[in-house]
Amino acid sequence: MKLNKKDVLGISELTADEISSVLDIASIMKKIILSGTKKTNYLRGKTVLTLFYENSTRTRVSFELAAKYLSADTININVSTSSVAKGETLIDTGKTLDSMGADIIIIRHSMSGAPHLLAKNVNSSVINAGDGMHEHPTQALLDMFTIREYYKSLKGLKVAIIGDIYHSRVARSNIMGLIKMGAKPVIFGPSTLIPTEIESMGAKLSPTIDDALYQADVVMGLRMQLERQKHALFPTKNEYAKFFGLNESNMYLAKENALWMHPGPVNRGVEMSSNVIDGRNSVINEQVTNGIAVRMALLYMLSGKESKKEVNYNNIISIPMQEVYA
Ligand code: CP
Repeated sequence: MKLNKKDVLGISELTADEISSVLDIASIMKKIILSGTKKTNYLRGKTVLTLFYENSTRTRVSFELAAKYLSADTININVSTSSVAKGETLIDTGKTLDSMGADIIIIRHSMSGAPHLLAKNVNSSVINAGDGMHEHPTQALLDMFTIREYYKSLKGLKVAIIGDIYHSRVARSNIMGLIKMGAKPVIFGPSTLIPTEIESMGAKLSPTIDDALYQADVVMGLRMQLERQKHALFPTKNEYAKFFGLNESNMYLAKENALWMHPGPVNRGVEMSSNVIDGRNSVINEQVTNGIAVRMALLYMLSGKESKKEVNYNNIISIPMQEVYA
């Protein structure tokens, strides 16, 4: 199945079949990354722009690498030195980039819904790289890809998501995606950082951290998002680490081979101890590599939106771009 959409704005808009297709293509893309060549021509002639109004290391760099590995022309727009700093609106910035021939614009913004507004006003495809406290779809896709690599299927897996759920777009996207794929997300965090609507999304709220971690197949820590907190929502970082932190003395409650995950960046010693971050079951660095594969898959699948011909993804490595989209 191809991704028959102009934009990727949220996990809420993807079906389970579409998520599976992205993960399948990402598996092929990962082979390209690990092959050492790291170069294909599938996006030759396409222009990919990254427009980040918020800080990022992993997402921005992995999108740029993904586009480069696919031979697209890539430009990273530095918002602080662009005309945004002179007061240009998001829509005007988008239309300007559209007029320059952008094929795909990747946007991160502190306002929820900014990627949707941009997508409505440009011809280019738009990918949401994180909007406020709303969604971070590519993070959820790379997390599901990482879990699927180990377990083959997400069906029935207990995924404990621990920490600042309220401010976390990663948690929202993951909860939606995991449920669509048949997994069972279980959440725990300070009561001040649990949104009231979370159980209506299908996640189970655990009464204690021990209950959340018990026999979990996957444990996902979340970053304490101090920059999004207008008021102090917990007493001190030390107390947070003591009552809500993931460490070797509570991780033993999860299954012996449980995956230890974190989207990064991590506040070491706050939401996760160094023993866990660098521990035997940690897949945090694999998540980063998988992020490139998943983003390559999305760029590839979106760039084919005008294709009249069905793409044979099984032959993706061996067939030249011209034949795919001729
Ligand atoms: N996980 C994530 O979104 O990291 P960055 O903020 O570094 O992009």
